[in-house]
Amino acid sequence: MATVVLGVCGSIAAYKAADVASKLTRAGHEVHCVCTPTALHFVAPLTLMTLSRHPVISSFEEETDNWVPAHIALAQKANVFAVVPASAHSIACFAQGFAPNVLTSLYLANRAPVLIFPAMNTQMWEHPATQRNVQMLLKRGDRVIGPAENGELACGTCGKGRLVDVDSIVSHIQQALPATLL
Ligand SMILES: Cc1cc2nc3c(=O)[nH]c(=O)nc-3n(C[C@H](O)[C@H](O)[C@H](O)COP(=O)(O)O)c2cc1C
Repeated sequence: MATVVLGVCGSIAAYKAADVASKLTRAGHEVHCVCTPTALHFVAPLTLMTLSRHPVISSFEEETDNWVPAHIALAQKANVFAVVPASAHSIACFAQGFAPNVLTSLYLANRAPVLIFPAMNTQMWEHPATQRNVQMLLKRGDRVIGPAENGELACGTCGKGRLVDVDSIVSHIQQALPATLL
């Protein structure tokens, strides 16, 4: 059984993280969801907690059950760090090393393989700032999977930006785990 840290950002696709959490949990993995404060506007922590069977962490103030802060404790036990969906803002924080919230702090403390699954409007994805941030992550050895090449976006347009499909996310995460933990 592997420990999966599942980061969730403030994107309309955040509800799909619940399905990913459910599928990984049912596959026998220990899934810990870590939400940005904005993600909580898009998906209820109760949903993620119930499907992952673990408390959801979204603020430093909630990190009370251990003297080691939860974002450090989770970073130490993670076998994979996946962000579903990853917003342009969080990708920028990861790339630049900004740590304003639990998820971005955990990114810095983590040494497990990193899988980033972006979802955003096409223009946001194609902006040179986002592309430069993505290149920084790739150079560092993080994996960036997606967004999907084409599809209808929540903003009403069509183009690149959709989160890749849930089954493919689950399969990428499982492939990133050490074989002994599968
Ligand atoms: C309805 C709505 C949908 C949004 N969807 C996305 C999205 O898919 N991707 C994205 O990068 N930002 C999206 N945003 C903007 C982010 O929520 C915003 O940039 C926020 O600061 C992200 O914070 P976080 O990265 O800390 O979660 C959306 C905003 C709204 C109001």
